[in-house]
Amino acid sequence: MQRQNAKSLRAPGPAATMRAMITLGIETSCDETGIALYDGERGLLAHTLYSQVAMHAEFGGVVPELASRDHVRKLLPLIDQALAEAGLSKADIGGVAYTAGPGLIGALLVGAAVGRSLAWAWGVPAVGVHHMEGHLLAPMLEESAPAFPFVALLVSGGHTQLVAVEGVGRYQILGESLDDAAGEAFDKTAKMLGLGYPGGPVLARLAEQGRPDIYRFPRPMTDRPGLDFSFSGLKTFSLNTWQQSTQTEQDKADIARAFQEAVVETLAIKCRRAMEQTGMTRLVMAGGVSANRDLRARLRELAEQRGWQVYYPRAEFCTDNGAMIAYVGHLRLAAGQHEGLGFGARPRWPMEELD
Ligand code: KG4
Ligand code: ZN
Repeated sequence: MQRQNAKSLRAPGPAATMRAMITLGIETSCDETGIALYDGERGLLAHTLYSQVAMHAEFGGVVPELASRDHVRKLLPLIDQALAEAGLSKADIGGVAYTAGPGLIGALLVGAAVGRSLAWAWGVPAVGVHHMEGHLLAPMLEESAPAFPFVALLVSGGHTQLVAVEGVGRYQILGESLDDAAGEAFDKTAKMLGLGYPGGPVLARLAEQGRPDIYRFPRPMTDRPGLDFSFSGLKTFSLNTWQQSTQTEQDKADIARAFQEAVVETLAIKCRRAMEQTGMTRLVMAGGVSANRDLRARLRELAEQRGWQVYYPRAEFCTDNGAMIAYVGHLRLAAGQHEGLGFGARPRWPMEELD
């Protein structure tokens, strides 16, 4: 398998330069098939998404082989749908971007194979995009996009990271989770409370019924310096609290509320530290958990107190989507990056390796 890295990128040929206007973005890193068309001048033209949530729900989590097979079924119809929505034909596409990692290897390879093949058939360049760079730059799709530099809080199902962002491709990881990602902690706690899959949004909704100050959960790793996180203890704490409770629906909601408060407050404490440490004044949040209303409100409150600005994508671009991949692909293609005829995918891919 060819590894996708800076060295595999080369300058675009003449065809690419002439037609590098509209980028097709393909996202298949996990359980969402996302497609988008991004125009360098007009912005986002169309985006389509198919979520496999219903299929995986009966198993209580993502089944990688089923995910890959479903991406195979959905990709081409979704591309046709996006083209129709934008009133375009495939001849209008100037470049193809696909998620090359990190993620589930089978799922990634479906998007990479389809993306690379279409680019070859259409005679346009292709580029593999880093999924977390997609999340990181998703707020750029909004009207009030942040200017560089900024601190980014990336909170998804697979990652929790604080990143100092100086510009596109200039990322320094300030801290990250040593065990479960924030989204993973939401999902596992929700599963344990019998809330089903995917747990994050369900647990967040239940937390609204919870009463304040019934339980107080720890804020992990906030009693020592540093910007790393550890969320796995919170799910054990939730389980113990549940087992010791009278196990009513109200208990469940109270636990959901205390759990969410602990995650939100821990993230807020580390964001404050990261902002103070870097001296930056713009805070960006992205990734699935940034759709969480309490987290948004808490970070807005923090920013207001300190005179900082806070930015996040619209809810549908917090979770996985094709728009963020089309956007990053557009930036990279416009900067002259693209790949040879091979393709690859990287289930693990440190963001600091990007250029
Ligand atoms: O970014 P994303 O769509 O996929 C990954 O790259 O992982 O994030 C999915 C994660 C899941 O863990 C999901 O439970 C969580 O984001 N999530 C939420 C909310 N919406 C999605 N967690 C808490 N509150 C939410 N409202
Ligand atoms: Zn994601």
